[in-house]
This record gives sequence, C-alpha cells and structure tokens, in this order.
Amino acid sequence: MSDVPPSSIPRHVAIIMDGNGRWAKRRHLPRAAGHKAGVEAVRKTVRAAKELGLEALTLYAFSSENWKRPEDEISDLMGLMKRFILSDLDKFAAEDVRLHIIGDYTAFKPDIVALIDDALARTAGNKATTLSVALNYGSQDELTRVTRGIARDVAAGSIVPDAITADTIAARLDTAGLPPLDLLIRTSGEQRLSNFLLWQCAYAEMYFTDLLWPDFDGGTLKAALDWFAMRDRRYGGR
Ligand code: IPE
Ligand code: IPE
Ligand code: MG
Repeated sequence: MSDVPPSSIPRHVAIIMDGNGRWAKRRHLPRAAGHKAGVEAVRKTVRAAKELGLEALTLYAFSSENWKRPEDEISDLMGLMKRFILSDLDKFAAEDVRLHIIGDYTAFKPDIVALIDDALARTAGNKATTLSVALNYGSQDELTRVTRGIARDVAAGSIVPDAITADTIAARLDTAGLPPLDLLIRTSGEQRLSNFLLWQCAYAEMYFTDLLWPDFDGGTLKAALDWFAMRDRRYGGR
C-alpha cells in the first residue's frame, strides 16, 4: 500500500461520503441498511488512511442541512453514530488516532454530546492520524460563527479591522490546527460541495468517483491518492 512517493502523499484528505441511500435502493433494502454499510466503509477507510500515512482525514457524516430528512432517518443515523463510537473508540485510543469534530455537535441529543466529549478527551493526546468528523457541519454556518466571533472582538476593541487577515479567519475555523486540505473526494457521482469546507477547498484537488459510499475502501482511497500524486499544484504560480 505504500508505492506512492512520500512527498506526493496528501497530508489532509476530506471525503463527502455520499450514496448510501442509492446503494440500498439498488439492493431493494431500506435506506438504514445503506447507512449501516456506510459505517463499514468508514472503518475500512480510516484503517487505510492510517496505513497510507495521512495526517488528517475529515469525513462529512451529517450536514447542517441533513436535518431536513425524515425523523426516522435522522434517528437511524444518530443510532449508528452512537454504536460506532461505543464499538470503535477503544481501537482509536489504542491505535493513536485522535478524534476531532467539525460542526456544532452540541445541537445533538445530550447522550451523544456526552459520548463525543468523552471520545475527544480519551484521544486528545494521540498523534498518528487525526480523524475529523463533520457533524451538523455546514461551511456557511462555520463562516457565520467565525464572522460573529471576529465582530465581537472588534466591538470589544481587542482586534482592529485592518489587522484581520486570511490567517485570522483560518485560525477560527473548525479545522484550525489541521493541515491544509490537499484532496477532496466525493463519491456517488455528484460533483458539488454541498456546503462542505468551502474556505478550505481553495487549493484542494477534487476527486469525484461514481462509486457509492458503501463500496468505498482502502483500495479506492489508494486509487484517489495515486491520481493526486499526478497533479501539478500551482497555487496561482507557474
Ligand atoms: C450519504 O448518503 C450519507 C448522509 C448524507 C448522511 P445519502 O443518504 O445522502 O445517500 P443518497 O445520496 O440518498 O444515495
Ligand atoms: C452531503 O451529502 C452530506 C453528507 C455526505 C453528510 P447530501 O446527500 O446531504 O448532499 P446533497 O443533498 O445531495 O447535496
Ligand atoms: Mg446524498
């Protein structure tokens, strides 16, 4: 799994895990079965990310717009999330994986918030890979929260408007402290960002695959990394 030269390995990969519903539909199964299969793909992908030497993997698990879904689907997703944390936290803790959350997860039910807080505390000192999970995340919400914070500081006199730079904003994003985003992957054939990491995607390479999320695994992550290794990143230079 390691024939990609180290210099061309992305430090930070983010994935829009899309297509669970369509995966289930093709099999004449309920959507919940697609989400369940999606959790297996998460496990495989996290394992591969660590083996491939990624510093950070950010997974879009629940968007700030996903509250529009029917209550029973939301409750299926919450149940899966709970079970995933309960079943996999020991492994993350032992395997040096640090858990990080982007998005306002405090909007979830108190039992889930408590589970997440415990998972964050238990893995805070881990260093090998950061698994960042987007929960109730929307980029416009994130940037709105950042803007409010800066406006408050300006009003309080602790920062002057001319001192606000791109770094001021980056340091207040939910992704602060993570490496810059190198590669964005979206499954299921859709080619849109769906309010994910709008600021952070500025110079990310974009990889779209028709695979549905439950069919994604270490091999397909490796294929995306091989594609990434061929990119010529210019950042506006020449
Ligand atoms: C992605 O799969 C999982 C979440 C958004 C939580 P979908 O549920 O969006 O699956 P499709 O897009 O309907 O196939
Ligand atoms: C994006 O997928 C959100 C997640 C993967 C969690 P959606 O399925 O919600 O996106 P749209 O509605 O197709 O844009
Ligand atoms: Mg979808």
